Amino acid sequence: MKESEILPAIDASPYNHPMTQAAPALSDSLLAAARAIGAVETGQSLTEALLEVRPDLRPSAQSLSFYAMRHWGQAMALRRLLLDRVPPNPTVFALLGLSLLLLEVALSDPAERDATAPTYTAHTLVDQAVQATQGQRDTLNFKGLVNAILRRFQRERAALLSQLEQDLEAQYNHPKWWIEALQAAYPQDWKRLLETANVHPPLTLRVNLRATTREAVEQAFAAAGIAATPFGVAGLVLDVPRAIASLPGYAQGWWSVQDAGAQLAAPLLELKDGMRVLDACAAPGGKTAHMLELAALKLTALDIDNARMGRVEQNLERLGLLNDDVELIAESAMRAHTWWDGKPFDAILADVPCTASGIVRRHPDIRWLRRFTDLKPTAKLQREILDSLWSLVAPGGKLLLVTCSIFPQECELQAQAFSKRHTQAVRLPAPGQLLPCLANAEQPAGQDGFFYALFSRQG
Ligand SMILES: C[S@@+](CC[C@H](N)C(=O)[O-])C[C@H]1O[C@@H](n2cnc3c(N)ncnc32)[C@H](O)[C@@H]1O
Repeated sequence: MKESEILPAIDASPYNHPMTQAAPALSDSLLAAARAIGAVETGQSLTEALLEVRPDLRPSAQSLSFYAMRHWGQAMALRRLLLDRVPPNPTVFALLGLSLLLLEVALSDPAERDATAPTYTAHTLVDQAVQATQGQRDTLNFKGLVNAILRRFQRERAALLSQLEQDLEAQYNHPKWWIEALQAAYPQDWKRLLETANVHPPLTLRVNLRATTREAVEQAFAAAGIAATPFGVAGLVLDVPRAIASLPGYAQGWWSVQDAGAQLAAPLLELKDGMRVLDACAAPGGKTAHMLELAALKLTALDIDNARMGRVEQNLERLGLLNDDVELIAESAMRAHTWWDGKPFDAILADVPCTASGIVRRHPDIRWLRRFTDLKPTAKLQREILDSLWSLVAPGGKLLLVTCSIFPQECELQAQAFSKRHTQAVRLPAPGQLLPCLANAEQPAGQDGFFYALFSRQG
């Protein structure tokens, strides 16, 4: 499937890799991270690229590449200033960007540093970046180039940084088209949205209330020395993010990883035991599981991606939610004639594919992978999926449109156009556009960007 269909995966969190092994050599980590970043620069998702990294290097490569993606506007601008030709090797090109960012951290005033930045001395960094070019045959010839560029940055740092001051991409670390789209849609909030996108997300869980209680999970966490704050009906946000595997109750299915914004979807459908429900774009199953935790449903979960559908099965199995009333089908929501038994659904969840512009703090590579030209075809695909699904809703039944986007074309404008096309659709109260926000007194977990529109079908 296209990258535009990426989603807030249940287990794609940066906290999923326990940092328990001895630290590898920095040069090896730099090279592994550069390979992953180089893959992003040629269109692959960072999550996929990191899966190709040697397991012992993956945690360090992940933390370096995540940091880099959050600062890649600055890295690209510096590279443009310092390089008069692009090296014909994407890994070396990425290594230069990554090393420049880390060298900038090393040379900056410690009091002004981003607390999450990986910090090394300038000497170590230059030495290890040069060393990294010696790690593979295809990068061997670039030792001199990396050394020269990093040393020039050390000498000319102040002048180079001053040239970045007017560069919006370098300042906000998002592509120019993305910044302009947010300026147009959110004239008051665009700066805050861009800044929030570069903050580390919290680790947010949803307790499986079919399997246990939130109090029991809190007690198990407390016994293991893990502090967590409750929110909403079943949410817990960890005070300090940890490796998922180190938390009590994962294997027992006591909880799932799910952003606070995503936890609003299932309750909006007011599910009751026995209802016929369709989860039309289900994988990897975060909201499917939540719906099954809320009521004993006759549920069909559908996703066009067969491999991702396998993850729905694994997740439901772990949570103890698979039973004879749950049907999992790998098919398109737009090919109902191949899978629908003709009985209308009381509720349909349409968590349609989108640019994922609301979840960039969890997937910082997304902003660099998307193009402005993705918006139109993605909105068209959403429209076609929604129109196909509408004919499957029972009279009095509900359709919930969800996206993890903050671009209006995939959100409010999509919902308004849907209302216009379908005169039997009555728009019901729903949260609408939720903008990404940091933790605050009302929302201790903060949230990613989501959009919700709820429609009921007049009889
Ligand atoms: C935003 S994700 C869904 C996230 C999921 N609901 C969850 O909470 O875990 C969108 C999903 O739509 C699927 N998809 C894309 N086109 C589809 C189609 N025509 N029919 C069904 N699923 C589709 C993608 O494979 C992707 O898994």
